[in-house]
Amino acid sequence: MELLGKRIVLGVTGGIAAYKAAELVRLLARQGAEVQVAMTEGATHFVTATTFQALSGKPVYLDQWDARMPNAMAHIDLSRQADLILIAPASADFLARIAHGLADDLLATMVLARDCPLLAAPAMNRQMWENPATWRNILQLQADGVHILGPASGEQACGEIGAGRMLEPEEIVEEVIAFFMPNVLAGRKVLVTAGPTFEAIDPVRGITNLSSGRMGYAVARAARQAGAEVVLVSGPVGLPAPQGVRRIDVRSALDMHVEVMARAAAADIFVAVAAVADYRVANAAEHKLKKDKGGIPPIELVENPDILAEVAAMAGGPFCVGFAAESRNLEEYAQSKRRKKKIPLIAGNLIQDGFGGDDNRLVLFDDRGAHPLTPAPKSVLARQLIEHIATLTG
Ligand code: PMT
Repeated sequence: MELLGKRIVLGVTGGIAAYKAAELVRLLARQGAEVQVAMTEGATHFVTATTFQALSGKPVYLDQWDARMPNAMAHIDLSRQADLILIAPASADFLARIAHGLADDLLATMVLARDCPLLAAPAMNRQMWENPATWRNILQLQADGVHILGPASGEQACGEIGAGRMLEPEEIVEEVIAFFMPNVLAGRKVLVTAGPTFEAIDPVRGITNLSSGRMGYAVARAARQAGAEVVLVSGPVGLPAPQGVRRIDVRSALDMHVEVMARAAAADIFVAVAAVADYRVANAAEHKLKKDKGGIPPIELVENPDILAEVAAMAGGPFCVGFAAESRNLEEYAQSKRRKKKIPLIAGNLIQDGFGGDDNRLVLFDDRGAHPLTPAPKSVLARQLIEHIATLTG
């Protein structure tokens, strides 16, 4: 419920992506937002008002002269009640109209009369998006403080391929959530590791662990929502990259080491959430091991580089945060890892709480001692961790 109590006016304009706005209403409502839909006449050719009314539980407004507004001031009343106006999809025509301050229908009038922020998710054919006229309008809107979300690239409804697709509803919701978050890490560069590593024994077998990547992905997402530029170096997991985060996929601890060391000097903050294998197989077989060779094949292990300790030892390196998953003696072991790796902050969790699953129980350990956090979804804990990091780094 990350948008609990937020009042959002969703403006739907004419375009094939209007059908996705129905899902957007559902997702915004699921996050606790109160959604009021207003449509342009063009949008009604793609989706009916009844669909939005059913999903939002509120009457949909189409017309400036709607008799349901006793004072005939729909444009003022609706925008005054909103914390945010979100236009999705925003057609080229609608963007052009609001860039010029036109007020020729209810939605455009609401935009002009608003005293709240405006976010717009453009959706149009790639040629329309690339047209200099559209760009003039986009630049004008950005200069006026409008937040432009996307667009994405890919296959379009017309069959062409290029930029101009509306962001997916899930991505737009992420942007809306981020918009309401305090920008405690604005302008910072954050590097995060997540997931397990996979240490090959032969081409099909390996040593790995049960990390799902959820905690690390939640940290990357929370850092991005706090305004940071985020790079996520991820071991093999089945999760989509959080919106706005640059993800680099790796397999082994050595791969992760290379990718992190290449980026650590440019980072302001490094959060090592990954469950990195301490050892790798020294004698990994080039071909699949055969059972009929007789005897159990010996597996020889060598130590992997300690990525976090190496980054922490860099002169002028980033502020380093570690994670510790323990089966007992959490405080003692986590604090000892913190001292050994010479890092200012470590987040401790018990193995049974941390691995897999959506929830966790974290205790933050720093120079001032232990800070237990209330058990919560990983997304919530990640945000609290980011706030703690922001406090420690000023
Ligand atoms: O992915 P999930 O299913 O959501 O689970 C999350 C988690 C339980 C994996 C996560 O919350 C967590 O605790 N991660 C750290 C796991 C751990 O115990 O790591 P460690 O004790 O091996 O290492 C301590 C710290 O050093 C960690 O920050 C680790 O990323 C880092 N490290 C360790 C070894 C190594 N070679 N390089 C490292 O950078």
